[in-house]
Amino acid sequence: MRGMYICLCNAVTDGDIRRAVADGVRTFDELQARTGCSDCCGCCEPEARATLDAALAQVAFPLPLVTA
Ligand code: FES
Repeated sequence: MRGMYICLCNAVTDGDIRRAVADGVRTFDELQARTGCSDCCGCCEPEARATLDAALAQVAFPLPLVTA
């Protein structure tokens, strides 16, 4: 399963966006260049930006490892 579709026009999922961030994407322009997200009708842009921001927050502030 690839995750929830964010951009239906270009079949970009939330997992694709998280993977792009893990691979070094840091801006919405970079995300568009890499995935094509939001380059057609554009109706997915708010959700795509929110997903990108959430993924970037995880990179900037990763959850600490908890050991027992
Ligand atoms: S749904 Fe993403 S560009 Fe149309």
